[in-house]
Amino acid sequence: MTSFWSWYITLLSLGTIAALVWLLLATRKGQRADSTEETVGHSYDGIEEYDNPLPRWWFMLFVATVIFALGYLVLYPGLGNWKGVLPGYEGGWTQVKEWQREMDRASEQYGPLYAKYAAMPVEEVAKDPQALKMGGRLFASNCSVCHGSDAKGAYGFPNLTDHDWLYGGEPDTIKTTILNGRQAAMPAWKDVIGEEGIRNVAGYVRSLSGRDTPEGISVDVEQGQKIYATNCVVCHGPDAKGIAAMGAPNLTDNIWLYGSSFAQIQQTLRYGRNGRMPAQEAILGNDKVHLLAAYVYSLSQQPEK
Ligand code: HEC
Ligand code: HEC
Repeated sequence: MTSFWSWYITLLSLGTIAALVWLLLATRKGQRADSTEETVGHSYDGIEEYDNPLPRWWFMLFVATVIFALGYLVLYPGLGNWKGVLPGYEGGWTQVKEWQREMDRASEQYGPLYAKYAAMPVEEVAKDPQALKMGGRLFASNCSVCHGSDAKGAYGFPNLTDHDWLYGGEPDTIKTTILNGRQAAMPAWKDVIGEEGIRNVAGYVRSLSGRDTPEGISVDVEQGQKIYATNCVVCHGPDAKGIAAMGAPNLTDNIWLYGSSFAQIQQTLRYGRNGRMPAQEAILGNDKVHLLAAYVYSLSQQPEK
């Protein structure tokens, strides 16, 4: 901030406080200690008001707010470039320093606990109630925006509580997914197989999970199967059960990331899909990711309903 604006803010703030003090004291002048029968002279529907002084405690409250404001402005950075003199904050209090302090305090308190769990295998951590509680909190603040607070996912965001995995549900695979993130690459087929090809292969894909083609649409499932054999087997596998190394999902079950309707599947095929799981290593660090992996793993270990 330039020194002009610094002074502008400082004088404006202190001037306002001074003006309020003046107003408070000036209007207190001439007040008598005893109560009076005099009224202020107006009447609302016959209700009049005595001209009594402000009660003392009320007046003192005003004084207290002024003292609080001045104290605050000395301790915290509120007046232009003034940095404040709050003890324990070298060079003045800031939100960033406050946050850093809380983080330091937390890692001092929980660091050893995280380290203890990080040294145990994920499967074992997944059996420790305290670890799961901590993992659950981490999940709520870092993952639930996308995967939902119950981890059941949403359109485009996979359910983490079922037994179906894009990349695999082994403890270490889950940890790798969270540490490094994942980038799905389902290509767009619009220009490769054309609109008719998309219709046919969509019909074929739906038939794999026992879905009929909607009435009024004609589909050559055999042609679709041929297109599948040529273009899709590399990633989704010859049995269409998916290949975890490619992140390519099983197309024969009832779990759909982008919807199973004829229109939705055609949309997937036309333009491709590129779901992205953001890498967490740089954000949360290995120890927290380890706990999260255990938490996610534990969710899928519960018997399926
Ligand atoms: C290069 C590998 C690759 C090829 C080739 C490929 N896919 Fe995919 N496919 C993927 C991946 C990866 C996903 C998951 C996309 C995501 O998670 O965002 C996917 C997703 C899908 C989905 C969505 C599934 C859901 O749950 O919503 C369908 C349907 C699909 N593919 C069908 C096909 C068909 C049909 C072909 C051939 C025409 C094909 N794919 C070729 C990799 C591939
Ligand atoms: C910005 C949204 C977003 C956030 C935040 C996010 N994820 Fe994901 N996650 C995704 C998407 C999208 C996918 C699917 C990627 C794909 O389509 O291939 C995914 C996939 C996964 C998978 C793989 C699922 C499978 O079937 O193999 C796991 C495990 C996972 N996330 C865990 C987490 C955890 C734990 C966190 C919190 C640290 C988290 N995610 C935060 C979007 C997110």
